[in-house]
Amino acid sequence: MAEVVIVESPAAAGALVADQIARLIAGRPDAVLGLATGSTPLPLYQALQTRLADVDVSQVRGFALDEYVGIDIEHPESYRSVITREVVEPLGLDPERIRVPNGSLDGIEHAGADYEAAIDAAGGIDLQILGIGTDGHIGFNEQGSSFASRTRIKTLTEQTRADNARFFDSIDDVPMHCITQGLGTILRARHLVLLAFGEGKAQAVAEAVEGPVSAFCPGSAIQLHEHVTVVVDEAAASRLKLADYYRHSYANKPAWQGL
Ligand code: F6R
Repeated sequence: MAEVVIVESPAAAGALVADQIARLIAGRPDAVLGLATGSTPLPLYQALQTRLADVDVSQVRGFALDEYVGIDIEHPESYRSVITREVVEPLGLDPERIRVPNGSLDGIEHAGADYEAAIDAAGGIDLQILGIGTDGHIGFNEQGSSFASRTRIKTLTEQTRADNARFFDSIDDVPMHCITQGLGTILRARHLVLLAFGEGKAQAVAEAVEGPVSAFCPGSAIQLHEHVTVVVDEAAASRLKLADYYRHSYANKPAWQGL
């Protein structure tokens, strides 16, 4: 079962997970982080700026979850640009050590296999940061994605394109395809940390954490992993049947265990 931690605000979630990442880097200076984009991880990235200010992060490595296919890499909403702007520059990471799937049409046939090889060569991902879509997707693994899938091209659903239209001038500008770590790729990371905030994510969180394990809710794949931490605010936790148990169990958790 995933550990569910219910916090009072996105900022509190960011601080909690930033502490865990700082501990990870203290023990392993070349730790490999899995990096999500979107709105959800922003409070975490903000908290990391403070938490890592005096930490040597020069060896830290990172792999983004996904990228749009066919988008100009210089486009402000390409995930390469977003990761550079929100993570690499503010945290002072070495850009050479941070990879994003290659969504360029040139070489797209082998971009997935190349990305998998790069993750393997890095020794795998230590801590994978995840958000969740309103339809339950993680990464860009839309409903029906195989639990064994690896990094590959996917077609975005119209719901995801509509959700992401806020980053573009109109929904027509949101790319139709993406390249994303697969559910099988995500499940190979050593620790999954899924963040979700707001009422709009409550149903997806409930289905991912407490619903049946099903490709209908790709986020439910986390139930197959042995080390998962789900950090949610009260609104995103509002449909969890076992919320009181999660609160009780976290309140009584030995401090030495960390997340
Ligand atoms: C982003 C990603 C997606 C988002 C999800 C939620 O790299 O893989 O799964 O985490 O679409 O997006 P936000 O956080 O913007 O609500």
